[in-house]
Amino acid sequence: MQTRSITVEREGPNRPAEGRLIPWPEVPAYPVLGDLGPMGIGGSGAGSGAAGLLALGAPFFTTAGRTALAWAFKAAGLVPGDRVLLPAYHCLAMVEPLEWLGLEAVYYRLHDDLSIDLEDLEAGSDPACKALVAVHYFGFPQDAVRLRAFCDSAGLALIEDCAHSFYGSCAGAPMGSFGDYAIGSLPKFFPLRGGGCLVSSRHEVPRQVLAGHGPVGNLQALVRELQMAHYYGRLRALRPATFGAAAAAKLLALAGLGGDPARLGCGAAGLETAAGWVARRSLATSAPEEIADRRRRHYATICRLLSGVPGITLLKPRLETGVVPYMVPLRIPALGRIFATLEDRAVPMQRFGQFLAPALAPGLCPVSDDLSHHGLQLPCHQSLWDDEIEWMVTQLADVCTKAGKQPGRMPAEH
Ligand SMILES: Cc1ncc(COP(=O)(O)O)c(C=O)c1O
Repeated sequence: MQTRSITVEREGPNRPAEGRLIPWPEVPAYPVLGDLGPMGIGGSGAGSGAAGLLALGAPFFTTAGRTALAWAFKAAGLVPGDRVLLPAYHCLAMVEPLEWLGLEAVYYRLHDDLSIDLEDLEAGSDPACKALVAVHYFGFPQDAVRLRAFCDSAGLALIEDCAHSFYGSCAGAPMGSFGDYAIGSLPKFFPLRGGGCLVSSRHEVPRQVLAGHGPVGNLQALVRELQMAHYYGRLRALRPATFGAAAAAKLLALAGLGGDPARLGCGAAGLETAAGWVARRSLATSAPEEIADRRRRHYATICRLLSGVPGITLLKPRLETGVVPYMVPLRIPALGRIFATLEDRAVPMQRFGQFLAPALAPGLCPVSDDLSHHGLQLPCHQSLWDDEIEWMVTQLADVCTKAGKQPGRMPAEH
């Protein structure tokens, strides 16, 4: 993440002298003001961590959302060869766990608003399917009541993928409470680079004791999170302390006492390792109401600033009560033409579903095909500053407006 290009195109080579260092793009740089989560000090709403997915039951912490998904399949009793209904609009991280466990993906359609095409599913789903994974895209709820009824009647385990919806509610109930199991991806809502969780309000979650990271591994993780915050200009007063801790961590690692980075990877190797102490501590000391409030405010601001900009469609312009957004999803017809320019301007952004699984039949789900080319998301996380939001939106609006006026190569200047 730190190596992300922050350059602009100029005469000669790109140089990292321009652009804005905005926490990229989904990872908040540190908890909301006054809450130094990992250290457990300060904290306007600190200590009220049992909210969102954590309020559904004792969490089973994993290295990532994808490892939590694998554990959900295991907990639901799936065995190699079983089939799983996956949405056609997905990221490849959702497909990986099926490959690790020898499961087969069967893709299902979505409507243009990204709601699940339940009529299509009800019209005849594959009896060999054992589970259905549902995503509340960007924090916006699916029709969970109907989905639950469908899964019950079809004998499917419902796995709510709450990677985008750690907080929030639908039909008056918390996100994640409809599924047999729900999974979360911690970096999308907390200032962390890794971690996931599996929860359930209906069944026991696994009780296996997964490998820990050890004190030095935890110290290294804390240093990494603080360095990320400093890189983005946050928590400046802690720089000397971070410097000291980084030196100590390095010496301990040189002495052979450090954690094994391979174990922390997100691949199948990460299945037997737990989320680290820093991740669990961050969650426990976070301020859910403030996180939700800031995210909603940022989301509304971005929608207001972008509404009416030519060449940009807001996919979810209405922020209903109970939604705690993950990112602001947009559709930009000229995305293919302007993407490199946006990257050179260092606009923090993400393209969820840019690459879809090779096994997905083209044409099965037109909206997924379309968004893989034209879908872009802007961050609205709690760490953003107002001037950062304004800068980011101005850049995007400028590039889109210019693209509308002059087809072909895009201008690079600010
Ligand atoms: C909807 C969805 N599910 C699962 C995942 C996997 O989460 P992680 O990256 O923490 O493994 C992601 C993100 O990558 C996601 O967007």
